[in-house]
Amino acid sequence: MNNKRILVIGSSNTDMTAKTQELPRPGETVLGGVFTMGAGGKGANQAVAAQRLGGNVQFICKVGQDMFGDNAIEHYKKEGLDTSGILRSLLPSGVALIYVDSHAENCIVVASGANGDFTEADIEASKQAILNCDILLLQLESPIPTVLKAAKMAHEAGATVVLNPAPACALPEEIFRYIDLFIPNETELSTFSGLPVTDKETAEVAAKAMQQKGVGKLIVTMGSKGALICDGGPATFVPAHEVKAVDTTAAGDTFCGALCVAVSEGKSLKEAVEFACAASALTVQKMGAQNSIPFRKDINI
Ligand code: RIB
Repeated sequence: MNNKRILVIGSSNTDMTAKTQELPRPGETVLGGVFTMGAGGKGANQAVAAQRLGGNVQFICKVGQDMFGDNAIEHYKKEGLDTSGILRSLLPSGVALIYVDSHAENCIVVASGANGDFTEADIEASKQAILNCDILLLQLESPIPTVLKAAKMAHEAGATVVLNPAPACALPEEIFRYIDLFIPNETELSTFSGLPVTDKETAEVAAKAMQQKGVGKLIVTMGSKGALICDGGPATFVPAHEVKAVDTTAAGDTFCGALCVAVSEGKSLKEAVEFACAASALTVQKMGAQNSIPFRKDINI
């Protein structure tokens, strides 16, 4: 483990997943297959990925004063995460209802609960951790004013601010100035840039538009195709590993956690993306979110 500090601020959920042949259409009931319950949430998945892959990670989230919250904190401690900044809410802990079909596609409804109760005052209370970190990793399952405040605070303190803008939602333009590394998928990039993104060429154009808004560098994740690095020079494409996917849940989260670890180790962005692609290729081959996130020893890079 290196001593650069990665701080992840974000959501913690309990994922309830049902397998089904095809995803139901509105109004339709389908008979599914296996049901599993496991640890999830974009923030937690990214923190666990970074920790398992060799990072020095603190995770800050807000969970309820219920059994799910107790179990989550216990689990994060066992993973080796620094949990000293985790907060409790009077609202129930976050839960995600997930369907995964036979093509490994999923659809997810998050009942945010305590995640939605994360406040700007909570960010103020987390100030020391933010000022001490080298890399701050954020997503959008937390209230946007808290994401903005944390990004600004870390940026002003000189940390590298990484934003995975998932799930996509309206963002204040100001936030883009604080983002050193923006990691959207194609749909998210299209939403934030207002431009169509259908291939590498259109992704590069949209990435440039984001850089005009103030974003530093971008890595556009393109699912089973790979990822595109847009760092101001000519874009570099890193192809994905060819694997048989069974569940893509947490693949993007693994990618982001892995990428931060590699960056914290001083790897180039291309090497970091290669490492992140290798990690997420392992995640899609297993069911579940944190259940499928690999360890450093599993990656041959
Ligand atoms: O990115 C996957 C995650 O999204 C799941 O673990 C679920 O909890 C939702 O937050």
